[in-house]
Amino acid sequence: MNFNIALIGGDGIGPEVTAWAVKSVEKAGLAGGHTFKWTELQAGGCAIDQTGEPLPQDVLKKAKACDALLLGAVGGPKWENLPGNLRPERALLGLRAGLGVFANLRPAYLLLELKDACPLKDEVLKAGNSEGKASFDLLIVRELTGGIYFGERGRGINVSGSEDFAYDTEKYSRSEIERVLRVAYDAAAKRRGKLCLVDKANVLESSRFWREITQEMAKEYPNIETSYLYVDNAAMQLIRAPGQFDVIVTSNLFGDILSDEASVISGSIGMLASASIGQKEPGCKYPPGMYEPIHGSAPDIAGKNLANPLAAILSGAMMLRYSFGLETEALKIEQAVSSVLKAGYRTKDIAGRGGSSVKEKITGTKEIGEAVLAAL
Ligand code: IPM
Ligand code: MG
Repeated sequence: MNFNIALIGGDGIGPEVTAWAVKSVEKAGLAGGHTFKWTELQAGGCAIDQTGEPLPQDVLKKAKACDALLLGAVGGPKWENLPGNLRPERALLGLRAGLGVFANLRPAYLLLELKDACPLKDEVLKAGNSEGKASFDLLIVRELTGGIYFGERGRGINVSGSEDFAYDTEKYSRSEIERVLRVAYDAAAKRRGKLCLVDKANVLESSRFWREITQEMAKEYPNIETSYLYVDNAAMQLIRAPGQFDVIVTSNLFGDILSDEASVISGSIGMLASASIGQKEPGCKYPPGMYEPIHGSAPDIAGKNLANPLAAILSGAMMLRYSFGLETEALKIEQAVSSVLKAGYRTKDIAGRGGSSVKEKITGTKEIGEAVLAAL
């Protein structure tokens, strides 16, 4: 098959890591006769420099016309002082909303090769693990296009004029909750059959609504074990016994916070990929999908052949799996990354972490990227 993919390298290390994702995807697709056309677009800081806007209208339009979007990272100190609606991050929010990718899948797991980079003790890792292994493997499904990120917000001055104020609103409709829950339940069905709703139902009305809807939907999934946790407790459980979790489903804001926590316990933010997916529209070949590494633009190391391209490469694998159903090709990429780590290849960010008995080869972006291609 032929796929047309929007490619937004973005800022900082974004373009250099996505370059290796592109090569890996192409190589993995080769055997099956799949070809990829890449439509390069600019969004984020580089778009601000060229057009004054983080996400020009025509960029969104072109991205929507493609079969999927692969993105590097946006942002950097250069654009830090711009007003909120003109910052590079607006490009991300605009792409998420514009493409309608309401479910953000953020897997976090312990890579045995990098195990010593995990800040948790073995006994903590073993605590919640049903097989008693010092390990965890979880998936955060974060609602991505609603809630406080997109709710009504503003500033004002009280009636007497004595004080000013600011507000943001957490508002969710039934359908927004239902559709992301479906994605999470379906994911749980393909994994270990456990789903945990994380909310703040002891305080927030919106959370009580999430919980009611989850309780209703749970009846449709009798084979999935549904559980509920308040977000403060969930933050604690993640570092007390992460092995207890399979799929965590939660709102936009809680998911943002918990996924950063989960990335730290996996030992290396430079390794984590993400997928954001939506509902297939009539007349479209594929559901909308946006794929990006979780790490940021790391401007301090940009252009120095130091960036770790593995998260971007793994994001390419997620694209093949979730957008195009190319499971074999996705696995090929994941196995190639794993074999490169087993062989000792390390970019600086993941070097010297121990956990594997092999001698490490400290390499740059290019060398580890080439090793992945060779393994493919
Ligand atoms: C993320 C990031 C973004 C978010 C920022 C950059 C807008 O933190 O993808 O987790 O808050 O969603
Ligand atoms: Mg975040």
